[in-house]
Amino acid sequence: MQIKLFSSQYKIHRLTDQNIDEIYHLLSKNVLYYEYCPPFVTRESIREDMKILPPGKEQKDKYYIGFYQDEKLIAVMDFIDGYPEKGIAYIGFFMTDTSLQNQGVGTAIIDDLCRYLTELGYHSVRLAWVKGNPQSEHFWLKNGFVQLRETTSNAADEVILAEKMLEKNSGGIHMTEVQI
Ligand SMILES: CC(C)(COP(=O)(O)OP(=O)(O)OC[C@H]1O[C@@H](n2cnc3c(N)ncnc32)[C@H](O)[C@@H]1OP(=O)(O)O)[C@@H](O)C(=O)NCCC(=O)NCCS
Repeated sequence: MQIKLFSSQYKIHRLTDQNIDEIYHLLSKNVLYYEYCPPFVTRESIREDMKILPPGKEQKDKYYIGFYQDEKLIAVMDFIDGYPEKGIAYIGFFMTDTSLQNQGVGTAIIDDLCRYLTELGYHSVRLAWVKGNPQSEHFWLKNGFVQLRETTSNAADEVILAEKMLEKNSGGIHMTEVQI
């Protein structure tokens, strides 16, 4: 897993305590998200999110990363490798800078990531959004994620677990088309 290959457009760095202020600056402008997923972000909650792991996973499986454009942090992602099982990538958190939203930046990042994971042989990407958040729901459905079930998470009581299947040859010519 090479995080620098997650994106063809943006530089990617692992985020640490040194980045707390820039992360806080990006996250705290996404007010709608915290209305659906309180409490509101703090520097301390970011520090905790940098360490939190789903059951059975270890720090080596976790990539808390920033996407940079010209040295400016434009997106934050919490990526877990192999959760809930090998071959499945889990996005625990994804947020873009409000000044760049609704211009396709989020979609471009997810497209690139899915392309890279497909090359590596992963078969799906999973994530959950807080039930009722119209922005998150619209974004993930638009990006090809399909609802699996309603469940609970460490972040909220009612979340929608969703999955996107990764197909090795998607976009290519199908055999049936060649035969016709
Ligand atoms: C969801 C998010 C990552 C999308 O990033 P982005 O860079 O704006 O992504 P895109 O521009 O590719 O797509 C945004 C889509 O959301 C839609 N959208 C934006 N605000 C919306 C709202 N309040 N209700 C419904 N849809 C909304 C846009 O219309 C666009 O869809 P369209 O292309 O069909 O018009 C960003 O809005 C964000 O960080 N939100 C807060 C965090 C969050 O909800 N993260 C996901 C859950 S972990």
